[in-house]
Amino acid sequence: MAKELNALKEYLVDARERKYALGGFCFWNYAYGMSIAEVAQRLKLPMLYIIGDAEVKFFGGERNAVAAARTVAENVDVPVILHADHFRDFESIKRAIDAGFRSVMIDASSYPFEENVARTAEVVEYAHKAGVSVEGELGRIAGSEQKMSVDEAEAMQTDPDEAALFVEQTGVDILALSIGTVHGEYRFPPRINIPRLQKISEKVSIPLVMHGGSGTPEEKVAEAVKYGITKLNLATDLVKIVGKATAAVQQQEGFGYSVANLYAQAYKDLAEYAEHKMRLLAGSIL
Ligand code: 13P
Repeated sequence: MAKELNALKEYLVDARERKYALGGFCFWNYAYGMSIAEVAQRLKLPMLYIIGDAEVKFFGGERNAVAAARTVAENVDVPVILHADHFRDFESIKRAIDAGFRSVMIDASSYPFEENVARTAEVVEYAHKAGVSVEGELGRIAGSEQKMSVDEAEAMQTDPDEAALFVEQTGVDILALSIGTVHGEYRFPPRINIPRLQKISEKVSIPLVMHGGSGTPEEKVAEAVKYGITKLNLATDLVKIVGKATAAVQQQEGFGYSVANLYAQAYKDLAEYAEHKMRLLAGSIL
């Protein structure tokens, strides 16, 4: 019988208590996911995948993504979590939960505070009845495609008092913050706002999340973990690793258009990267 996926909350609550974090690794196919899960298994850490709308489409729908993650779960003996990343509305979240997701993010951060609260609370009510963990987002995380100045980016950061109110009014389990990281590549040198994180962590006791892990300075990540960050989302780096390795191998003599040759190095590089990040984030408990 297929193994069920795990909900996320209890793992991140433990992480906040014991001051470590898990990497949230973007999931887009079984074989690649398995190469990272083998590392989690070796380090005895839960395997946490994040998957956005685009990757769900790539799988051909939520049910296929869940089936792939369940197959990973059958092949390792650590918990496997598949977390819906940046889902924007109730309907898509309902579809994900009905398909077997046990962890979801509702990103209503582009709406005014009250509407973000209302949309997030609606998801929390539905998800909690099904034992599903919910991540909400307050403050807006910039994307590399957005051409904004450092000041403009800072203006979108999470406000500590609002964060406390948001958690109280929505009942979310996990909170994603905007503290200076960006999704994708940085267009200006990263300025991660640790003092702001510190203030938020004094007012909010639930697990906190840092998005935009690719390219974020590792010493800042390590510091952030001390102040309540329990999950670091990673996507762009993974695509880069696969892109680079598969391009390089095609230039080698004897490549021979074999699938094994095409991906072998990429999977090795992904596993190495995953181990490095897992040790950075959870080194204190390993
Ligand atoms: P990066 O693509 O910068 O690693 O960010 C990933 C992310 O935060 C997904 O939610």
